[in-house]
Amino acid sequence: MMETKSNDIISIIPKPIKVDVKQGIFTLNNNTVILTVPDLKKQAEYLKNLMAPATGLELDIEDLSKKDGNINTIILNIEENEKVFNPEGYKLEVSQGGIEILGSTPQGVFYGIHTLRQLFPVEIESSSKIDMEWSIPCTSIEDSPRFFWRGFMLDESRHFFGKDIVKKMLDVMASLKFNVFHWHLTDDQGWRIEIKKYPLLTEIGSKRKGTINSRKKLDGIPISGYYTQEEIREIIGYAAERFITIIPEIDVPGHVKAALAAYPELSCKGGSFEVCTHFGILEDVLCIGKEKVFDFIQDVLNEVMEIFPSEIIHIGGDEVPRTRWKECSDCQARINKEGLESEVDLQVYFTNRIANFLTSQGRRLMGWNEILNKNLVKNAICQYWENNLNEVLEHIKNNRNTVISERVALYLNYRYDLIPLNKTYKYDPIPEELDIKFHKNIFGIEACVWTEHITNIKELEWRIFPRLLAVAETGWTPKNKKDFQSFLTRLDSYLQRLALQKINFATKDEFRKYEKTL
Ligand code: ACM
Ligand code: ZN
Repeated sequence: MMETKSNDIISIIPKPIKVDVKQGIFTLNNNTVILTVPDLKKQAEYLKNLMAPATGLELDIEDLSKKDGNINTIILNIEENEKVFNPEGYKLEVSQGGIEILGSTPQGVFYGIHTLRQLFPVEIESSSKIDMEWSIPCTSIEDSPRFFWRGFMLDESRHFFGKDIVKKMLDVMASLKFNVFHWHLTDDQGWRIEIKKYPLLTEIGSKRKGTINSRKKLDGIPISGYYTQEEIREIIGYAAERFITIIPEIDVPGHVKAALAAYPELSCKGGSFEVCTHFGILEDVLCIGKEKVFDFIQDVLNEVMEIFPSEIIHIGGDEVPRTRWKECSDCQARINKEGLESEVDLQVYFTNRIANFLTSQGRRLMGWNEILNKNLVKNAICQYWENNLNEVLEHIKNNRNTVISERVALYLNYRYDLIPLNKTYKYDPIPEELDIKFHKNIFGIEACVWTEHITNIKELEWRIFPRLLAVAETGWTPKNKKDFQSFLTRLDSYLQRLALQKINFATKDEFRKYEKTL
């Protein structure tokens, strides 16, 4: 595909649907005023704060009704006729005298602001003042997303990164127009969310004595950390200002060794457990036969629901061995009492009970694709990651909902030789064989980062970037407007932006080395 002239001048990721570059330029200066309506005051402040560090300009914000022929204005406005727009869409018009961003919702306007930021020279990302002319080409842009679920998952159980790093991720997610942050907060190697009714979950479950390294030796480096409920509320608020919904994941009934270290009576056999120091699939899981396990989960989820406003709550459900259930009299009694066929059915019994509980609270369950079963409740959302695509397709064709996180393209913790940038870019979340009438059942795409072997922020960012930019474009831009060569060209300037934001990334030499012809 040939690039148009427009794209030689402007360089935006994810690529907008329609860009028309015109004659002339707009220059931001001391006299520029932001004019807006009461519903967009927060977005106006956000825009002002985005522009201030690099430009040194403290733009005035005034009510749009005061507009009296001022020139050099940035107008943020809501288009009354909502039908014109996708709720996340926007129109951005840059002319010599001013800029106008229109959306049918504050979220749409917010995305227009992020596109505007990318129209400015990369130096706009600088955290300190730069003396230069802040000019952009006169442009007309119309834009809206392909999918309404554009997600990123971070595993903070295996390694804990903390509030500042999460906020930094939320910032970059917002600028790439992501709207879901899936927070993997519990696993075998660490429980990272304060639950007031079960204090040992964090007192014991958030600490491990070390990690078994590649030479099969315990490294002796303790890993710990968790979020208080207050810190989580702060982060949820920070995300909400960026139109990002945070979906918490409490992974059950497998991947629970950290919880069992705190409360061993939730297992089939009892005994004593340690927060796990190695990685993989563990046989110690929650007992499905004991009622106190359901009491525990409901108590935990009650606290989770009090903190997280998200309608959707993720309960994991991946990689659950049945070994313990086979040997447990309580689990076997449950199978008999419920008329289940085997241990396999114990998991769907478990998932449905939790799903019904969540539904009774006005929420909705999401789980990894292992929750799928012909008896699964209808409203459960499946997150596809590997293996059973056919089963997932059946789920979709039954008008059930799915989010796609295909492991071999979207697990960004994998090395670049396993998942080169072009593989992530070219991956499409809609399976080719799926009839168009079912496409709406796929909510969207989500990239995941598992952190078993990622111990620090530099490494974390190096794995995520630039592959997350490729996912951003797939989530937002229509398939027929995507083009890898164009993306690579635009990436050059985005990498400079990341550098100015002090975000580490794999360089072009590093990620291109592994590209195969796909
Ligand atoms: C997963 O990767 N176990 C969801
Ligand atoms: Zn049991």
